Amino acid sequence: MSRIFAGNWKMHLGPEEARAFLKSFLARYRRVTGREVWLFPPAVSLETVARETRDRAEIIVGTQNVHWDDKGAFTGELSVPMAKEAGARAALVGHSERRHVFGETEDDTAKKVRALLRHQVKAVLCVGEMIDQREAGQTVAVIERQLGALAGLDANALADITIAYEPVWAIGTGRNATPADAAQVHRAIRAWFVARGVAARNLTVLYGGSVKPDNIAALLAEPEIDGVLVGGASIDAGAWLEIVNSR
Ligand code: 13P
Repeated sequence: MSRIFAGNWKMHLGPEEARAFLKSFLARYRRVTGREVWLFPPAVSLETVARETRDRAEIIVGTQNVHWDDKGAFTGELSVPMAKEAGARAALVGHSERRHVFGETEDDTAKKVRALLRHQVKAVLCVGEMIDQREAGQTVAVIERQLGALAGLDANALADITIAYEPVWAIGTGRNATPADAAQVHRAIRAWFVARGVAARNLTVLYGGSVKPDNIAALLAEPEIDGVLVGGASIDAGAWLEIVNSR
């Protein structure tokens, strides 16, 4: 299975900056077998990024958020068919900023996952506990509750979902989970899927939260970690190249 290096640009890099970023990154980036690069630009830059990377089959472009309906009176929202038309082949769902800043509920997340499956766009479901939950020993219980967004899906559908474990206390803080801590949660996530009929080897579990050039090697040395979802360091072409080239 390929190692995945996913960059979540969050609210950074409009079309012009996206083009400049890709020019710098792609000039120095070389394809390596067994590695995929996934880029999640803001929606307004999707088309630009899809166009600039169209000759690079191992680079997948995704959107950071979608609505569950295909169209309708939902001011400010983006449907899966629209994102797909603009070049998205994947989408983040349930990112902690969506949950904690914008109040996205488990039910919203569940509907978004189903819309993505319906349109054959890869869903990257983000899960993660807050610091007080970790300190109270509730990490696995919180993650399992968030995985509840997948309840009722059969093993085939479940095998198409990518999970990103992003402890909330590690996002944008410079504090990251130790590879061993992350691996422990990744094992619990895998066990949840295995209990529902998915072969562990068919499942991709990414780690996210303050991934940087200086900690990527230690994280990827952990066999439970199939790849990373990177925020801050993914919008700096030099740092991103170092991260991607760590394998
Ligand atoms: P940082 O890498 O900036 O901590 O962000 C992680 C993240 O939220 C990726 O989705």
